[in-house]
Amino acid sequence: MTQQTVKPTSVLGHPLELPCGVVLKNRLIKSAMSDSLGDGEGNPTEAQTRLYERWAEGGAALSLIGEVQGDSRFPEKPGNLVVTADANLQALQTLAKRGSAKGAQIWPQLGHAGALAHLPISWPKGPSALNVEGLQCEGMSLDDIHELPGVYARTAKLAKDAGFGGVQIHAGHGFLFSQFLSPLFNHRTDAYGGSVEGRFRIIREVIGAVRQAVGESYPIGIKINSTDKLAGGFTEDEALEVVHILNQTSIDLIDISGGTYFPGAAASSDSTSSSGPYFIDFAKRAKEATSIPIMTTGGFETRDQAATAIDTGCTDAVSLARAMVLNPRLADTWLSESGGDPEFPKFDAPPRGGVTAWYSMRLTALGEDNENQFDLEPAEALEIYDARDAERSIRWRKKFSK
Ligand SMILES: Cc1cc2nc3c(=O)[nH]c(=O)nc-3n(C[C@H](O)[C@H](O)[C@H](O)COP(=O)(O)O)c2cc1C
Repeated sequence: MTQQTVKPTSVLGHPLELPCGVVLKNRLIKSAMSDSLGDGEGNPTEAQTRLYERWAEGGAALSLIGEVQGDSRFPEKPGNLVVTADANLQALQTLAKRGSAKGAQIWPQLGHAGALAHLPISWPKGPSALNVEGLQCEGMSLDDIHELPGVYARTAKLAKDAGFGGVQIHAGHGFLFSQFLSPLFNHRTDAYGGSVEGRFRIIREVIGAVRQAVGESYPIGIKINSTDKLAGGFTEDEALEVVHILNQTSIDLIDISGGTYFPGAAASSDSTSSSGPYFIDFAKRAKEATSIPIMTTGGFETRDQAATAIDTGCTDAVSLARAMVLNPRLADTWLSESGGDPEFPKFDAPPRGGVTAWYSMRLTALGEDNENQFDLEPAEALEIYDARDAERSIRWRKKFSK
């Protein structure tokens, strides 16, 4: 990327109109994070509501709630929200309302972990049966696949009724729709496999059903991988084909990311260092392939990087996960004249998953307004995080295994 030339505050502060007519008030988005703050029965907690309120008060144009499930059988973690007809609608309404402070948008990311569903509380099922080291799952039947558009449509409508301003369909990071897109997971020989168009088919059906459920003027985003970063996986050229296909759909915002949580693979959230935005070159190619606004996630650490990415036409908006955990007021900070970049912690040889756990536990501290006392090391954070999930798994099974 070349050096940014115009004022970062005006580049980042410029509103962004989505095809459905909804306007994001600036270009800074809080990326989807599985915040691990559900109560273990799929309901929001006060700490979770407070967390999104803080991001809204801190100036973010949009916050995405990671991994909100429409089917309790395939969660990513037992701290996920579950939005079904018997959900606690009042708690969801409160989350939507407080997360929309100061004109912010708050959207649930509609998830389904598929083959990567959290084992103690699920029976993983992906596009195809797999039995590799660290990953065993059943393959979905055609009936299983045909259920999905209805599930996503119902969840999106419930989200809309609860007051959330839009939804994002999760098709990245190795979870269900990313599995459908990836030849590593999808070995199907029917209409839902084979060519990129075939592997995309279920996503097209889901987008259509969600659009029908929420109407024309409601934002629907999608998060896709630019690449799985795995040999034999989903490639950039295939991702570009997906962007071309998405251009023919009613999607309002395409979130470009990459990497997967496939056993042994590199996940963006667990990286200890960044040499700049990870997927910006692909985002530029994607922007040339579609008129739908593009947001880009991964590796942004400084205001200059964010403003330059937009100013040079690589992306329309910048989405930040870890930087927004380090400073929940980051949007306002970057939109102020003085600015100020977050200081990223340096971890010395953290355990696998330790960095993501550290950020997750810091999310809890933010939700409890006590981040000033937060001093965990990644290994300690991982231990507390895993113990909390084990306890929540018991609650989850009690609630949902009926
Ligand atoms: C604690 C944590 C949880 C995450 N959970 C999700 C998630 O539920 N859905 C998702 O799409 N990405 C998730 N991510 C990935 C981020 O959205 C983002 O793609 C990644 O962290 C790279 O962006 P960053 O460099 O700004 O952190 C998570 C990241 C972190 C740190």
